[in-house]
Amino acid sequence: MSASENQPDWNKIAEKFDMWLPQLAPVGEALIEQLQAKPGDRILDLASGTGEPALSLARQMAGEIEVIGVDAAEGMVRVANKKVKDLGLNNIRFETMPAEALTFDANSFDRVLCRFGVMLFEDSLQGLKEMFRVLKPGGHFALAVWSTPETMPTMHWSYKVMAPRLPQELHPPVAKVTSLGGPGVLEDMLFKAGFSDFTIETKTFNYNFDSFDAYWDHVEASDILKMQYDALPEEARKEVRNEIGKLARDFIVDGQLVVPHDFHLAWGSK
Ligand SMILES: C[S@@+](CC[C@H](N)C(=O)[O-])C[C@H]1O[C@@H](n2cnc3c(N)ncnc32)[C@H](O)[C@@H]1O
Repeated sequence: MSASENQPDWNKIAEKFDMWLPQLAPVGEALIEQLQAKPGDRILDLASGTGEPALSLARQMAGEIEVIGVDAAEGMVRVANKKVKDLGLNNIRFETMPAEALTFDANSFDRVLCRFGVMLFEDSLQGLKEMFRVLKPGGHFALAVWSTPETMPTMHWSYKVMAPRLPQELHPPVAKVTSLGGPGVLEDMLFKAGFSDFTIETKTFNYNFDSFDAYWDHVEASDILKMQYDALPEEARKEVRNEIGKLARDFIVDGQLVVPHDFHLAWGSK
């Protein structure tokens, strides 16, 4: 089994991934702030999914910057490019491309960013080496990766409750998703990729839902755990929902579900 295999099938869930964008927005804002884009910049968003945070940046600086987003999943790229067309933007485009083998020239981007992509790459170090290669000397990067399983409660709940009911090859992909979260792991990999001037800070943002049911309906409707769900009989799905609902009780605040998640924000220059 490759380490990436039990990730969601990004091609298949592309049309539904946007459901998560409002929850992830604070991380995009933090990345854009650290990136410090300036007029004239050529900017690359790696693993750009359905287009964020690249689209927000392109809209904020329309007419001032050129943005290219790349993602390995063609379905995600299709959704992102449809948004470009619908929004009538002419300073941004998306291409299907694995982060580990960028077709861009060395030293060709002023800025590179990546939200929740690097830890999912088949080869995270190679992806970071490519990020280093395409950045111009003095160019800036900013990236976000998930922290440890304990600081990612929603993933932790799914793993705890679903894993005992599923064969190992279908376990929720907590190991992959948090593979750069442990102390020193991201720092070490950034050094190996060639970066020497960077900062890593651990930050927290909340998933906010009107209730636990609203959250779980969202998980089901977005197909983010489809692979796992499809393998469970109907009765087991009900048990999973009930058990995760119990774990979530500690996170109900004034009737709302508010779940803090940690991530590592890294930024620096080449
Ligand atoms: C959690 S989504 C994040 C998407 C977007 N950056 C966002 O924050 O909304 C992870 C994305 O990484 C992409 N991905 C996974 N492995 C990749 C690789 N080796 N090269 C490029 N993209 C990859 C997936 O296709 C998916 O779109």
